[in-house]
Amino acid sequence: MISRHYALTREGSSLTLRQTTKPVPELSPNQILIKVRAASLNYRDLLTMGDADATRDGLTPLSDASGVVVQIGSAVTTWTIGDRVSPNFFPAWLGGAFSPVNLSNALGGGQTDGVLSEYLVIDETAAVAIPDHLSFVEAATLPYAGVTAWHALFERGKLQPGETVLVQGTGGVALFGLQLAAAQGARVIVTSSSDAKLARAAALGAWQVINYKTQPDWDQAVMTLTDGHGADHILELGGPDTYDRSIAAIAPGGRIAQIGVLSGFGAQPNLTPLQFKNASINGICVGSVEHYERLNAFVAEHAIHPIVNEVFAFDDAPLAYERLRAAGHFGKIAISFDR
Ligand SMILES: NC(=O)c1ccc[n+]([C@@H]2O[C@H](COP(=O)([O-])OP(=O)(O)OC[C@H]3O[C@@H](n4cnc5c(N)ncnc54)[C@H](OP(=O)(O)O)[C@@H]3O)[C@@H](O)[C@H]2O)c1
Repeated sequence: MISRHYALTREGSSLTLRQTTKPVPELSPNQILIKVRAASLNYRDLLTMGDADATRDGLTPLSDASGVVVQIGSAVTTWTIGDRVSPNFFPAWLGGAFSPVNLSNALGGGQTDGVLSEYLVIDETAAVAIPDHLSFVEAATLPYAGVTAWHALFERGKLQPGETVLVQGTGGVALFGLQLAAAQGARVIVTSSSDAKLARAAALGAWQVINYKTQPDWDQAVMTLTDGHGADHILELGGPDTYDRSIAAIAPGGRIAQIGVLSGFGAQPNLTPLQFKNASINGICVGSVEHYERLNAFVAEHAIHPIVNEVFAFDDAPLAYERLRAAGHFGKIAISFDR
């Protein structure tokens, strides 16, 4: 059987997205074959495409997909044909402590092929069941952005009702942070460069919104809004442009989830103020299969529907990349294989 897929193909010193074909490999006893129905893009996929030194010539990109099991290996016990599943970002991080070995196996980056392909072969233990109320497109937005926000706020952050959460921007991770935290009964503050996006965030349940362009001292605004307490949890997505203000805005005993690099990999912040707040920074790198399963249970319990900004056809995948690069999106950009 032949599968259509995309490959990041080296042209000169850069990588270009090209559609091509390859044979679907035979299954080993513990593997399953997934017919992919949808995929989604993340900021990471722009970094991967932009890093021709670290990315294998011909790599199949993207980490996030959903689909149907169409074939199972002879020893598979967990899945049957017709099951709706998604692969975990780290296929071998099933649960427990993180091992850095997983970094080299992450889907759709470095040397490891990803999911922008009609068919996928994965170990049965790397798959999670899709909540019944989600479409394939919605389910394809969860593996990277959703699991990261869940890991930060719930697994490590132990988020409690009534606490205050700050999320930066209105991209994938930020809006999952908003939706999950609001469902937990937390008060969510959203920052954005766009008043129109902030209005949409408020309609989604944000407690307060701040435009970080017109109000660059947004850390002060957070202190004012919280009567001098600060935010108990911050999803730190901006990187060098936002670190110092995140440290200024964190509450005593609060937790900053170190997640993003939207403004680059540059200078380190001054950490000294953290000690005078007994606050901490949790480094977050996506999550395990167990994290993903607990996220899905919460998403199902609260009937959460991910925010999908725009859906492209498989043949229009390069346009989906362009849309993400333009950063006008609110939530997720997805690709449907059914169009
Ligand atoms: N550690 C991990 O495991 C992990 C997992 C997932 C993502 N990440 C990282 O998290 C970040 C977000 O990823 P994503 O996929 O959610 O991105 P995304 O969907 O592309 O979000 C981009 C949005 O972020 C906002 N933004 C850009 N620069 C900003 C800044 N300096 N300050 C505040 N907001 C800013 C903008 O929102 P507005 O237009 O509203 O201003 C922009 O539209 C990326 O750096 C990504 O690499 C890390």
